[in-house]
Amino acid sequence: MRESSHTAVLGAGVIGASWAALFLASGRSVAVYDPNPEAERLVRDYVETAWPTMTELGLTARGTPDAVSFHANAAEAVDGAGFIQESVPERLPIKHALYAGIEGAMAPGAVLASSASGLTLSQMQGGWGDPSRMILGHPFNPPHLIPLVEVVANERTAPGVLERAEAFYADIGKVTIRLEKEVPGHVANRLQAAVWREAIHLVMEGVASVGDVDKAVWAGPGLRWAAMGPTALFNLGAGPGGLRAFCDHFSDTFNGWWDDLGAPSLTPEVAETLIAGIDAANGGRSQAELAAERDALLTAIRKATGPIR
Ligand SMILES: NC(=O)c1ccc[n+]([C@@H]2O[C@H](COP(=O)([O-])OP(=O)(O)OC[C@H]3O[C@@H](n4cnc5c(N)ncnc54)[C@H](O)[C@@H]3O)[C@@H](O)[C@H]2O)c1
Repeated sequence: MRESSHTAVLGAGVIGASWAALFLASGRSVAVYDPNPEAERLVRDYVETAWPTMTELGLTARGTPDAVSFHANAAEAVDGAGFIQESVPERLPIKHALYAGIEGAMAPGAVLASSASGLTLSQMQGGWGDPSRMILGHPFNPPHLIPLVEVVANERTAPGVLERAEAFYADIGKVTIRLEKEVPGHVANRLQAAVWREAIHLVMEGVASVGDVDKAVWAGPGLRWAAMGPTALFNLGAGPGGLRAFCDHFSDTFNGWWDDLGAPSLTPEVAETLIAGIDAANGGRSQAELAAERDALLTAIRKATGPIR
């Protein structure tokens, strides 16, 4: 049996609209609640724009963009939904008030996943009488193009809820990882933060320009990271001896580099340097042009890797 053929999306901004598009593509109906009076138009426009790309990726065979409905309140939107994705603003009082308003209206077997980037599951559970059907399901922007979802449950989560969420995400084409412990920023944002910290350090130390440090990522290790993770790659980095040989050869080197890595803060002065640097690297191209280029490249990479993964 397919997981949850009727879904709800609560909060339909940058992340929620993209989730709605992907749920529709997967052949599910989607009930949306967002208090923004423009939400219906924005979501319909978003879905229309995203649909050709999702079709190119082979994601829309089961779906129709019209199976979406808009509701006057969150309790009405979750009525009858088997899976609910919450993507309201990242402020605890807003999340808590929303959960209090829907808890009694959720179907008995329904699961709610929060997209929250910065809040932890434990913090959000405070908004529930019984938080056992809520997990964290953190996507990467935009969820309809980037496969990763980080899922988190804890001792207050009912048995089987995390597995049902994982099955749902797998069915709509997502790749999930499980966090065994709650940490601020989850896994992927911490990895991004670590790389960006060193990128900023290199720029501020005058080692290379913003454009060249970015190029060092996308033309180098970034391309490999789209294929495999850093440990899997280093397992292949020292020949047939695998990771053991790699660690034997390079422990001193890495320990030395780690001792030398920078720890800059994102001060206004640092931000101005980065802004000037990215403006120079972009050479007057508009944000829309840059976003279109990013999405075209992401689509091409996903198309190429789709049959393998
Ligand atoms: N933007 C990102 O890159 C990103 C990535 C991953 C996760 N997230 C997470 O997704 C969540 C939403 O972020 P976003 O970037 O889409 O924000 P956003 O501001 O673009 O969208 C939030 C939407 O929620 C609506 N809203 C406000 N109060 C509401 C309520 N009570 N009920 C329902 N809807 C309500 C707003 O009208 C708005 O449309 C946050 O928890 C954020 O941490 C964001």
